[in-house]
Amino acid sequence: MASFAARSASQVLRASRRTSAAVARAALKPQAASYSLLARTASAKVILNPTFQTVRGVKTLDFAGTKETVYERADWPLAKLQDYFKNDTLALIGYGSQGHGQGLNARDNGLNVIVGVREGGESWKQAVEDGWVPGETLFPIKEAIHKGTIIMNLLSDAAQSQTWPELAPLITPGKTLYFSHGFSVVYKEDTKVVPPKDVDVILVAPKGSGRTVRTLFKEGRGINSSIAVWQDVTGKAKEKAIAIGVGIGSGYMYETTFQKEVYSDLYGERGVLMGGIQGLFLAQYQVLRKNGHSPSEAFNETVEEATQSLYPLIGQKGMDYMYNACSTTARRGALDWAPIFEKANVPIFEKLYESVRNGTETRKSLEYNSRTTYRQDLAKELAEIDNQEIWRAGMYKVSRLLWDISMTSVFTGKVVRSLRPDYKPE
Ligand SMILES: NC(=O)c1ccc[n+]([C@@H]2O[C@H](COP(=O)([O-])OP(=O)(O)OC[C@H]3O[C@@H](n4cnc5c(N)ncnc54)[C@H](OP(=O)(O)O)[C@@H]3O)[C@@H](O)[C@H]2O)c1
Repeated sequence: MASFAARSASQVLRASRRTSAAVARAALKPQAASYSLLARTASAKVILNPTFQTVRGVKTLDFAGTKETVYERADWPLAKLQDYFKNDTLALIGYGSQGHGQGLNARDNGLNVIVGVREGGESWKQAVEDGWVPGETLFPIKEAIHKGTIIMNLLSDAAQSQTWPELAPLITPGKTLYFSHGFSVVYKEDTKVVPPKDVDVILVAPKGSGRTVRTLFKEGRGINSSIAVWQDVTGKAKEKAIAIGVGIGSGYMYETTFQKEVYSDLYGERGVLMGGIQGLFLAQYQVLRKNGHSPSEAFNETVEEATQSLYPLIGQKGMDYMYNACSTTARRGALDWAPIFEKANVPIFEKLYESVRNGTETRKSLEYNSRTTYRQDLAKELAEIDNQEIWRAGMYKVSRLLWDISMTSVFTGKVVRSLRPDYKPE
């Protein structure tokens, strides 16, 4: 039952998404700028479809029995968005994954955006490559904060804590302080980030990497984001959060609190989104190899089929759909084993949640990411993963296959994780 309820909610949401995209495109028609450069090329005929028009207006969605309000980009036509921020300068502090995605999207949306990063650092170079102009739209951090009215703190979470003593006095009344994670203010005992009492403090946390924030925007779509208010001095903090959410490329925004955002985010990425799935892939692969299966067979049954076939089906149509797309043999076995995996994993997830809640994960992250060698240390650990047989298996096979079928261009890239001969690395 839960599965059907979830599916119908997601169907409503998808219908609403299509509608909103259509409405957004219609709203954009007479204007010079766009939510996305590519979206402008989309045909306005979509809006003529009556199905889209009838669904338009759904704002409260039922998620498996719980009603939630969803804020939509469609309510912020570009002219309204640009007018709302006409007296503002969005100062993006930090230009990592999120700085890049959010900054370029806001700039393409016609907002007044500047970037503040360490002079001469990696991010400075990256920002210049992306067209930010030193002295015009690219500044050292303190100068950017001085010029900005909305200070978007997109430094790494560890750097937010490290730099806070220097930056805090620059967050003067009238400015707005923005984060994309609840980390710094929620774990203030550890980070020491305590915002001044006289500024609005808001959050827009895209539910995806900064690269996805950018890609979806360019496709004319918008990423889902969480929004939250920590401190509302002006009485407009929530509205501002929604508007900035649209500005940086969100399509749909879900209200939460700083605390719930950071708990769920730290938990999810350590769990199924990253750590959990990495551990599960590896465990399955190892047992197959121990029992005499070849690397390609173990890879196919673990990574290839998951990422190339079954997980996309879950994403597109739901878990039940994925089951139905598989053999009755597969369905029977998976249905029997799912509760066994669930039972085995609940205690691990409970331990993980507690480790997030009590700040252990935060302290580890701050300690590790505050090291001067954090980039090299991380690169070393990731290289170790890259060197695991499971991932070498996927990479090796592709390069051989590309040779075997006499592709005109030889594959020289490194990050390929598929055994399909027609797979094209980006
Ligand atoms: N990445 C995601 O998928 C994601 C998703 C949602 C929310 N968020 C949140 O968004 C925020 C930004 O994350 P991110 O992943 O985009 O950034 P990041 O890669 O973690 O951080 C990179 C930025 O921090 C700067 N930085 C690091 N140490 C510094 C220091 N000591 N002093 C000054 N600058 C320093 C870097 O500049 P240099 O190049 O000069 O070192 C770079 O501009 C975080 O709060 C994060 O939790 C991230």
